[in-house]
Amino acid sequence: MTKVLVTGGLGYIGSHTVVELSSAGYEVVIADNLSNSKLSVLERISKITNQTYEFYNVDCCDYSSTKEIFEKNKIDSIIHFAGLKSVSESIQKPIDYYSNNIESIITIQRLICEHNISKLIFSSSATVYGELSDPPFTEDSPTGACTNPYGWTKWMIEQMLRDFSNANNDKKVVILRYFNPVGAHDSGLIGEDPNGIPNNLFPYITGVLSGKYEKLTIYGDDYDTIDGTCIRDYIHVCDLAQGHVKALQYMQNSRAGVDVFNLGTGRGTSVKQVVDAFEKSLGHSFNYEIGPRREGDLPVAYANTLKAKEILQFCAKRSIDDMCTSSIKWQTEINEITHD
Ligand code: NAD
Ligand code: UD1
Repeated sequence: MTKVLVTGGLGYIGSHTVVELSSAGYEVVIADNLSNSKLSVLERISKITNQTYEFYNVDCCDYSSTKEIFEKNKIDSIIHFAGLKSVSESIQKPIDYYSNNIESIITIQRLICEHNISKLIFSSSATVYGELSDPPFTEDSPTGACTNPYGWTKWMIEQMLRDFSNANNDKKVVILRYFNPVGAHDSGLIGEDPNGIPNNLFPYITGVLSGKYEKLTIYGDDYDTIDGTCIRDYIHVCDLAQGHVKALQYMQNSRAGVDVFNLGTGRGTSVKQVVDAFEKSLGHSFNYEIGPRREGDLPVAYANTLKAKEILQFCAKRSIDDMCTSSIKWQTEINEITHD
């Protein structure tokens, strides 16, 4: 059976991807240093899939401990999720972000060469598009002009992977640029569980619903959009996870080199529309106010999804209502865990 190493596999997107890989028949090995996840996620994944997993508590920046995974397993391909991801924290602690995100992918590239592995998928972000072009963003839209160190790490790693591929002409590298991953697994057993006060819209709203925060502040309603609030391309995390399975299937017969794909729905949803969808799922309203704009926010960002559709045969299926309903179900589960 084909063994896939999933780094950061106990994190938000990684855990959902492990579930999808298992149901597609891949054997999965998980590596995670638990810096932003909990070991209990491993049991929860197993509960969903009815399978057990080989798990390594390693820091992927550390070459010698990461090497052991490759010595003990015949790894066929790697999905590299491990990394730090908070925009605001990256502005406070840029060196932590540059060192963790860049050193971990360097270790992975070294090990790929030493163990003759040909397939690597890297988690990038739509944040690399910055303000350089108008949406919908295609994979050929200009990148760079990032507004924070987190975004720059993604941009730099994309370049590093192109150099790596030029120097190693037997390697297949897929860069996936995620738009706004949200929602949770239908079981309610896994989902996003951020440390501290969340910056992102969905976890903040579920925090308000659970009573952790008093109200949501909508960052600006004077943009030139349908209702004045910002537009984003929210994609259900289970659809996003399936995008990784599609990418692995594509790599089975693809040519060596770097391929870049957007993973989004291609549909824009405003902040107010998200609030309405939550209220519809809940059956009642919740507390919010309009505040000033947030610095660095683009008014509108959504994907052109044609390339992923044509080449990966990937199409996100779940609606904004599915995203809200599954987030609410997961929030109920977190409350139960915290009150245990
Ligand atoms: P997450 O923090 O939930 O998951 C990342 C996992 O990696 C965590 O479990 C963490 O403990 C682990 N990790 C971090 N550094 C590590 C290291 N050096 N060695 C081993 N494990 C390490 O984040 P996520 O939302 O699941 O994101 C996964 C990837 O996707 C990240 O690279 C992130 O930048 C990227 N991404 C996320 C989003 C998003 O909105 N969530 C958007 C675009 C891109
Ligand atoms: C943010 C990051 C981006 C990162 C992405 C996924 C910034 C400027 N951008 O994108 O680099 O890749 O998260 O992690 O931080 N909103 C509110 N009130 C809130 C929270 C958000 O109104 O309390 C609005 C925002 O203004 C935005 C939308 O909701 O219009 C979505 O915000 P968020 O979830 O933070 O995602 P992005 O801004 O797209």
